[in-house]
Amino acid sequence: MAPVPPVMVSCGTTEKANIITVAWTGITNTVPPKTYISVRPSRYSYDIIKNSGEFVINLTTSALIKKADYCGVYTGAKVDKFAKCGLTKEAASEVSCPLIAESPLSLECRVTDIIELGSHDMFMADIVAVDVDDALVDKNGKLHLERASLAAFAHGEYFELGRKIGYFGFSADKKRKNPTQKAKK
Ligand SMILES: Cc1cc2nc3c(=O)[nH]c(=O)nc-3n(C[C@H](O)[C@H](O)[C@H](O)COP(=O)(O)O)c2cc1C
Repeated sequence: MAPVPPVMVSCGTTEKANIITVAWTGITNTVPPKTYISVRPSRYSYDIIKNSGEFVINLTTSALIKKADYCGVYTGAKVDKFAKCGLTKEAASEVSCPLIAESPLSLECRVTDIIELGSHDMFMADIVAVDVDDALVDKNGKLHLERASLAAFAHGEYFELGRKIGYFGFSADKKRKNPTQKAKK
């Protein structure tokens, strides 16, 4: 499966917070909004998330990608990743673990189910709040994620999202698909 999002998942408390980079994640339901992360039980973050029942998914930008990689190779059992990466903890509105202030969009999540899959356990969660940088929202309330330089992970390498090549439903939009149609009538 590629590309996948290399998100930075924050967990723990403001006093003792950790970050784990996760690529096995996605949206699973619209109403109620649900997501998941799959985490190996051997990760330091695993028990923190299991015991608190909370985590925050922070989207990664090209500017953050080196820090995201760092959070994916070093363990919070030995290093304070917030301090080492110079990342800022920001209070969340619904959960007790902090957001990463430098991330443009954060999803506050509360675990509803833990599914043991084999190598990884899947934390199914309700998305209980979404925090977005003001700079990404226009005066009509439309979210412009294309301004965020989001990062993608594909087969062991990181990429920055590039040129726009379409939009949702553009294949069915006759007016845009065939702009000369109107003139022909
Ligand atoms: C791009 C990338 C994606 C990763 N995805 C996952 C994942 O989906 N699940 C997982 O358990 N570990 C994943 N890892 C590995 C953990 O992030 C890594 O083992 C990390 O050091 C664990 O941190 P912790 O011990 O502080 O919890 C990924 C690492 C990278 C670099």
